[in-house]
Formats: sequence, C-alpha cells, structure tokens
Amino acid sequence: MNYKNALQHSVFDIISKSAQELQVDAYVIGGFVRDFILDRGSHKDIDIVAVGSGIQLAKKVAEKLPNKPKVQVFKTYGTAMLRTDDIEIEFVGARKESYNENSRNPIVENGTLEDDQNRRDFTINALALSLNTSNYGDLLDPFNGIQDLEDNIIRTPLNPDITYSDDPLRMMRAIRFATQLRFKIEDESLHAITRNNERIKIITKERIVVELNKILESNKPSIGFLLLEKTGLLKYILPELTALKGIDEIEGQRHKDNFYHTLEVVDNISQNTDNLWLRWAALLHDIGKAPTKRFDKKVGWTFHAHEFEGSKMVYRLFKRLKMPLNDKMKFVQKMVFMSSRPIVLANDIVTDSAVRRLIFDAGEYVDDLMTLCEADITTKNPKKFKKYHNNFKIVREKIVEVEERDHIRNFQPPISGEEIMKAFNLKPSREIGIIKDSIKEAILEGDIPNDYDAAYQLMLKEGERLGLKTAR
Ligand code: CTP
Repeated sequence: MNYKNALQHSVFDIISKSAQELQVDAYVIGGFVRDFILDRGSHKDIDIVAVGSGIQLAKKVAEKLPNKPKVQVFKTYGTAMLRTDDIEIEFVGARKESYNENSRNPIVENGTLEDDQNRRDFTINALALSLNTSNYGDLLDPFNGIQDLEDNIIRTPLNPDITYSDDPLRMMRAIRFATQLRFKIEDESLHAITRNNERIKIITKERIVVELNKILESNKPSIGFLLLEKTGLLKYILPELTALKGIDEIEGQRHKDNFYHTLEVVDNISQNTDNLWLRWAALLHDIGKAPTKRFDKKVGWTFHAHEFEGSKMVYRLFKRLKMPLNDKMKFVQKMVFMSSRPIVLANDIVTDSAVRRLIFDAGEYVDDLMTLCEADITTKNPKKFKKYHNNFKIVREKIVEVEERDHIRNFQPPISGEEIMKAFNLKPSREIGIIKDSIKEAILEGDIPNDYDAAYQLMLKEGERLGLKTAR
C-alpha cells in the first residue's frame, strides 16, 4: 500500500514544512491512519504528534494556512486544536504518561514517538505516518498494528491490564471498535477488561454515553451489548438491561429472556432506521419488565403496566447518565410507553377507530412507533411471524387511509372552547370540557366525521343533554 496517498490533502505539506522549520519530527497518528488503511471513507479528525511542542507546531501551521484559523490551546494537556476546511486537527507533543489511580488525568512527561505509541489504546490506533522530509509517508508500526488490522484484532500495545487501568474508558472503546469494525477483542484483552470492569466508575457519564451511542449507531449493536454484558461492564452502566436477563420457571411456565429479546429488537430496528433515539427506544422498550414481573397461578407470567413503569425509568436513566432531558428523552419515553399498542391492535381485526386512536396518541411519531413494533416481532414461529407482519402491514395501510380522511395526526378540535361558550352563553366551566371531549371521542370512534358542521350539531345535542340553553 502506498501510504503517501493518505497525505494528499495540502494541509499535510504545510504541517511537514512547519515541523521542518521548527526542527521537530511530526507524524499523523491514530484513527486517520487506521481508517485510511481500512478504506472507511475520509476521517475528519486528524491527530498529529510532534516530538517536541505540539502547541508551537499548531501555531506555525495556523500561520501558514490560507484561512489563518484560530488555535485553541489546552495548556493542561499540552495539546492544541485548529480547524481548516471541514477538518479538525489536533496537535500533541509526544509523551510518556502515567495515570493516577483515581482519575483519568495523566501525569505527562516528554517522550519519543515510540513512547507516545506505547501509551495509546490499541495497536490499530498506534499506527503513525511520517511527515518528515527524510521518510515522508513511511509507516511506523512498532506493534504490528497492520497485521492486527488484517486479522481483525483489537489488541493493546502494552500489557492490557496497564492500558485499561490507565484509562478505563478504553474498555468501552475496545468494545465500540469491535462493534463498528466487526473485530475480535484478543482474549488477554477481554480478560483484562473483565478484571478491570469496576474502574469504569471513574469515567464521566458523558464519555460513556459517547461510546454507547457509537455502539448503538453501528450496523449490529448487539455485538457491543453482548460484550458489555460478558465483561461485566453493563451492570455498572445500564443495570436496567442486565436486570432483564434470565428465564424464570414456575409450575412449568417460563417467560422469554428479555435481555436477549431486547438485543434482537435493537438489531432488527437498526436495519430500518438510523434514528439514534428510536434505537435507544428499542434498547429500553422492555426495561419496565424487570420491576413489574409477577407470577399469577391463573394466567402465568405477567408484566402488568411495564410500559408505564418503563417510561418513568427512561427519565431516571437519562438523568443518571447525564443525557439530554429534552424532547429526545420525551420521544424515547413516548415510544416505550406506547410500545405494546400496535401489537394489541394487530392481534385483532384492525378497526378504523382503533387506528384513529393510535394516530391520535402517537401523533407525529406514529410511523416511528410502527417501526419499533415491527422490530419487536422476534417470534421463532414462522406462522406467527408472518401473521404479525401482515397485520402490521394492514395497520400501516389503514394509518395512511384514515389519516387522509380524518386528519388525526395533529388533531385540532373542530370546535373551540370559545365557540362553545359563545353558543351557550357560558363562562369558563366544566361543561365546555365535557362537550369538547364528547366531540373528540365521537370523531375517534367514527360516529361523526372530523369536520365543523358535524361537530357543531353534536355540540348542540350535548348541550341539550346537559340542560344548556343556546344563546339567542
Ligand atoms: N486514544 C487513546 N486512548 C483513548 C482515546 C484515544 O489512546 N482513551 C488515542 C488513539 O490512538 C486514537 C487517538 O487517540 O486513535 C484519537 O482518538 P479519537 O479521536 O477519540 O478516536 P479515533 O481513533 O480517531 O476514532 P473515532 O474517530 O472513530 O473515535
């Protein structure tokens, strides 16, 4: 492979010249090199190591760049960052590092390129390309990362116990790369993750969520969640999921293992949507089943109101992980809360009024809800599988048909409260609510069409029933 092809962007030439002027060696390292060799499309973050001051090199490069970008300096870490075109370049001085037991923050000393490669997370992320005139474009690969890239292996440059204990976030990164790249984590490394799993507690929630999101955004997220579970990390991060593990049996009655079911649902939905929050909803759709599980002699295992419980748990989980408590969280809650609605519908004959109620409750998210519920079909019985999918197809068709006719999705009452007050000469009172509700119910039931005249007639009838007199 001609590695010079990785360095076609004019910025590499500028970095090379700047390094020469400062008489330091400079290298591109990390994800950019890895993704070039893997042909994963262009990597927008470039990491540069200078054997010397990374900050000075960044400043020199910025002077030479046509757009004269601002250099952001992070003094405590000895790093600097600048943006040019749509790429972000991070500069760091080569260093030796040792970490403090209780924090991720390293104690830093200057070092050689090899010292710097040594302290990186994985052999495949320690590959460096030279930007020096003497060997421009040469690959420096002291740990045979190229071989690991070819063999699809995640391995640490140092003893894995040291690498992971130095920075426990790397345990999640290993699993995230294994999921994204479909690589195998080498056995020694996997054991080390298991041994060190408790140290994940010192990592900030925000950084953990970044990795969780990357796992969820991959083509087959179950790979990552199975590894998180196997290594014992998951119980520290998402205990709600590990609580779903296992099958209980009482009087010969068993329920399904809701953990593995959940992972199947997440993989299914990932075939059909890239919406991260819908994928989160799939991951969390059954978490209410652990606290609501009961055995009833007559009906067997039940998970009564698990959707309601689950949606409350979503809030607590988002809060704990410092995830946004905004409309994304509300969306996930809504999906979890409504996750059983379509399947109940699809078990029966699909009536228009049931579809209207579904659209009314799910609003603009009705299609997302259907996508979730289709992914939820994990039955291994081919007859049932077909039946449920067929029924959902009918539900989807009916949603379109009913919506075209009745416009329920963004339901606005055809008669406003003010109009009711005017018609009966009323002050604000509960009668108005009663009338509005019966109009809404009649529309959803299909007793009247969703239009003004029909609603007006019903209003008059309801007013009469309530003993109200029309205004003259
Ligand atoms: N790195 C590390 N330990 C970490 C994070 C990063 O050793 N906990 C090193 C790796 O050499 C990595 C480089 O810093 O390649 C850049 O890190 P980052 O930008 O987070 O990841 P990338 O490898 O570029 O991959 P991606 O963009 O897919 O996250």
